Amino acid sequence: MIEINPSILNSDFSDLRGELAKISTADMAHIDVMDNHFVPNLTFGPPVVERIRAISPIPLDAHLMITDADRNAPVYAELGCASVTFHAEAVAAPVRLAREIRRLGAKASLALKPATPIEPFVDLLGEFDQILVMTVEPGFGGQKFLDVCLPKIRRTRQAISAAGLEIKLQVDGGVSRDTVARCVEAGADSLVAGSAVYGAEDAAEAIAELRALATAHTH
Ligand code: DX5
Ligand code: ZN
Repeated sequence: MIEINPSILNSDFSDLRGELAKISTADMAHIDVMDNHFVPNLTFGPPVVERIRAISPIPLDAHLMITDADRNAPVYAELGCASVTFHAEAVAAPVRLAREIRRLGAKASLALKPATPIEPFVDLLGEFDQILVMTVEPGFGGQKFLDVCLPKIRRTRQAISAAGLEIKLQVDGGVSRDTVARCVEAGADSLVAGSAVYGAEDAAEAIAELRALATAHTH
């Protein structure tokens, strides 16, 4: 079963309740937390995510693009995000942090920027519930999908299978009706889509279409 997680990054922040209601047929709401240090953009932090959690019709998939994840990530598990993704480039002790997030009742997920390899983490896969392979440089919605990241998606899927683990493989950045086939054929089973959902006339229809395309290309 392929997950479709719309990113609210390009939604209308003045009407989060209405924007979240539009994606109630999706699996999880992808919440991009940016601190203007790890990425050159600033969104919101714990107080706003807490309110989003309270009104969201579906569970939250928090994607933390923030420095010092060791110190700053656990609060997102504490306030009820179902999944907490921190970046490999922003963490000092990934195993300790993943265990802390799991202890707090959330799924632990590790994200890799386009230039970060999966190989150093292959022996640590069992510590995570999900690996997120970025297919744009993080920071903004609406960027072009980077095909150069496809081999890493494939290698990550192979490593997960070789270890006999059940770990979600999420792809984030430039996912649209044009790129979804490439993602799932490479082994992704969780797709984040921002502009493809919120830029569409009808968000629910866009979600259904991405889901149908993803299912059709799964092998
Ligand atoms: C980028 C964010 C993505 C972004 C995706 O830094 O992590 O989640 O919102 O937006 P699209 O689907 O438009 O590339
Ligand atoms: Zn994201």
